[in-house]
Amino acid sequence: MSINPLKIIQFELGPMDNFAYIIICEETNNCMIVDPAWDPQKFIRTIEQNSLTLSGILLTHGHHDHTNGVNQILNYKNCPIYYSIGEIKFEPPKTANIAQVKHNDKVKLGNQTIAVLATPGHSSDHISFYTNPNLISGDALFIDGCGRCDLPSSNIEDMYHTLFNVILSLPEETLIHPGHNYSDKKTDTIKNQKKTNRFLRSKNKKEFIRKRNGF
Ligand SMILES: [Fe+2]
Repeated sequence: MSINPLKIIQFELGPMDNFAYIIICEETNNCMIVDPAWDPQKFIRTIEQNSLTLSGILLTHGHHDHTNGVNQILNYKNCPIYYSIGEIKFEPPKTANIAQVKHNDKVKLGNQTIAVLATPGHSSDHISFYTNPNLISGDALFIDGCGRCDLPSSNIEDMYHTLFNVILSLPEETLIHPGHNYSDKKTDTIKNQKKTNRFLRSKNKKEFIRKRNGF
């Protein structure tokens, strides 16, 4: 698999230690924002100061702490939102410009592509965005943690599948870019996380479920 030269800028914002991202195709200066929340002006300033063109919004899932800046970004520029249809129920965006995406879809950003991975568990239709060597994992995988599975559309068995069959099937050098800063590291490789993330160290589904349920 070839390395995809997309640049990723990480933003830590809001009272829940959220991470949002701007992904940039440096060949074309096109960019997309992932999970714009809490401080939309910060994204807009970054876009303007770097003479970027915003070509889309990517949403990992529909929870308010990942989406509460969407409408202000749309007021700045009416760009498409790449969204998993099952997540729209949480906080429907004020736009008809929604490009529904599902597992294995490819989103074009400038001269590059970003792959959509279905990563349910924290919420029923949660997705992650993969652009070798980077994975933006939302509230599926955190550094040394994983998303809650006790929320209304959560499913703990789906989370096990997401972590062990979807995310751990990516190359070990993959860099994880999570949806919250719940660790002393802001990013890490899958290789390291297999050693230090207690959820990924589960020997089987039963052990994972026991740990995730807090026992
Ligand atoms: Fe969430």
